[in-house]
Amino acid sequence: MENPFRPTAGATPPDLIGRGGVLDEFAYGLRIGSGAPGLLTIFTGARGIGKTVMLGAAEDLALNNGWAVVSETATGGFVGRIGESMRLLTNDLGDGPTGRRVTALSVAGFSVTTQLAPEEQVDWRARGAALLRLLAQRGTGLVITVDEIHAADRAELSRLAADVQHFIREGLPIGLIFAGLPAAVSDLLNEGVATFLRRADRIDLHAASITEVERSFSETFAEARIPLSANLAREAAEATGGYSFLIQLVGYHLWQESERASDDLDAEAVARAVAAARRRNERVVIEAALSTTSGRDRDFLQAMAEDRRASSTTDIGARTGMRPNAVGNYRARLMDAGLIEPAGHGLVDFAIPGLREYLTSHPIAR
Ligand SMILES: Nc1ncnc2c1ncn2[C@@H]1O[C@H](COP(=O)(O)OP(=O)(O)OP(=O)(O)O)[C@@H](O)[C@H]1O
Ligand SMILES: [Mg+2]
Repeated sequence: MENPFRPTAGATPPDLIGRGGVLDEFAYGLRIGSGAPGLLTIFTGARGIGKTVMLGAAEDLALNNGWAVVSETATGGFVGRIGESMRLLTNDLGDGPTGRRVTALSVAGFSVTTQLAPEEQVDWRARGAALLRLLAQRGTGLVITVDEIHAADRAELSRLAADVQHFIREGLPIGLIFAGLPAAVSDLLNEGVATFLRRADRIDLHAASITEVERSFSETFAEARIPLSANLAREAAEATGGYSFLIQLVGYHLWQESERASDDLDAEAVARAVAAARRRNERVVIEAALSTTSGRDRDFLQAMAEDRRASSTTDIGARTGMRPNAVGNYRARLMDAGLIEPAGHGLVDFAIPGLREYLTSHPIAR
């Protein structure tokens, strides 16, 4: 058996830990069709928690139920690209068993631009409606997933929302699932870009419990007949903090240790695996997240790292010499970047595991 762990963005893990029931409402929506609340869902959560993986799981579920799927990331022009995918799907279906060709829609495809021209806008909606009618005849529908929604161009997003709302009003079978960083998604919903999105089912993905991770490690290694004692499974699980990406990293390096070991996995092997996992998490997640920050952003973060838990914004102001509204601005910027999160009134905490430790061991010179 080869190493089953997948410490790569968006890659399906061997065991989807702690997500039981998360897609139940969506699955129910696939059954009852148009207008079901579960067909309008937003996944939010910290970097590396497993949002893209959940989108993939929802897509698989939709495909297994015979629904068509269009999967996009919210970079510039995504609404146009969704339109193009709908055109291709319509063509496919037109050739399908019902033999119904939708010639009226086989007009020129969309160009990838951030703004659709007015005639393209009309076309998009007509094209979508035609596709959805074809799918409805077959008793299924279309699910559109959009990842990284926090980065979406507001004008594009409100267009997509308006069209989808229109389809729902016509009783057409459409599902829309988004994923994005929590604070930025909240801003987006509060900006009133698309009021109808506020009614979406918002599912905030959290870290798994240590017990669940421990059980998963024990089972995965037992299946491969790799002896891992209960104590060591617990230790490895604790080192992940229940955080999805670290679960994959620790599992992956532990598996490598077992491939190298001539004997059973011991405490040293677990310690080496954990250290390797942490180093990789630092490089892939922490340094990448920090690379987009400014010097003042880092001052803010460094001031937070002086605390052992959530920091008060008053203390951050005192430590950095920032005035309250500057503190407020940097707080908002860092939340949008997914680096920090609110932790109660006047408090903020780090949103990425290991970030505090990283900042403490690599202090940024001022
Ligand atoms: N429920 C889970 N149990 C175990 N591992 C998981 C789970 N969900 C995701 N993973 C693993 O965690 C890692 C990150 O997953 P994913 O890329 O979906 O996160 P994300 O929230 O989309 O991150 P980002 O914000 O950086 O896009 C992947 O290696 C994936 O295999
Ligand atoms: Mg992702």
